[in-house]
Amino acid sequence: MYDILLLLHSWLRWFVLGMAVVVIYKNYTGWKSGLSWSDQDRKMNTYLMILLHSQLVIGFALYLGVSPMMKNILSDFGASMKNSELRFWSVEHLFGMVAAIVIAQVGASKAKKQATDAQKFRTAFVYFSIALLLILLMIPFGIWNQERPLFRM
Ligand code: HEM
Repeated sequence: MYDILLLLHSWLRWFVLGMAVVVIYKNYTGWKSGLSWSDQDRKMNTYLMILLHSQLVIGFALYLGVSPMMKNILSDFGASMKNSELRFWSVEHLFGMVAAIVIAQVGASKAKKQATDAQKFRTAFVYFSIALLLILLMIPFGIWNQERPLFRM
């Protein structure tokens, strides 16, 4: 179970990143080129949110019991705060990613309610860009935080 969820969580990151780049680019060009907001635009934003919510669910399953590493870390949460590697997993990855997903969700919902098509594209573009930045900061790429395999086998 653990191996499957970790593998899924690891690979889904690439789908999240790929989809986020495409969706942000589409919203940007829609905004700057004065395109009309189509049903396809709404669907693309929704697909990105589905991927993000999937990561959220798998992430929480790993965090709250499936991951042996998390069981160890959470058995002494206080100690994890004094160690930057453990703190990344106990606090930073969790809160950074949840914040990013909330920002993306607020953006997707707000975009739909805007009065004009340009405002819809612009709102989605701004919120998704902030969310992507946060996600990039919190993925364990080993540059500014923990290192994990790029392509887990
Ligand atoms: C967009 C959202 C997220 C992305 C892109 C993401 C990405 C990743 C990546 C790439 C890893 C390393 C996987 C590996 O070792 O191959 C990881 C590990 C992990 N993530 Fe996330 N994550 C996200 C959200 C979350 C959330 C919301 C939680 C909830 C707490 C979470 C909990 C975890 C845990 C516990 C691990 C470590 C599991 C272990 O090594 O046993 N993630 N995440």
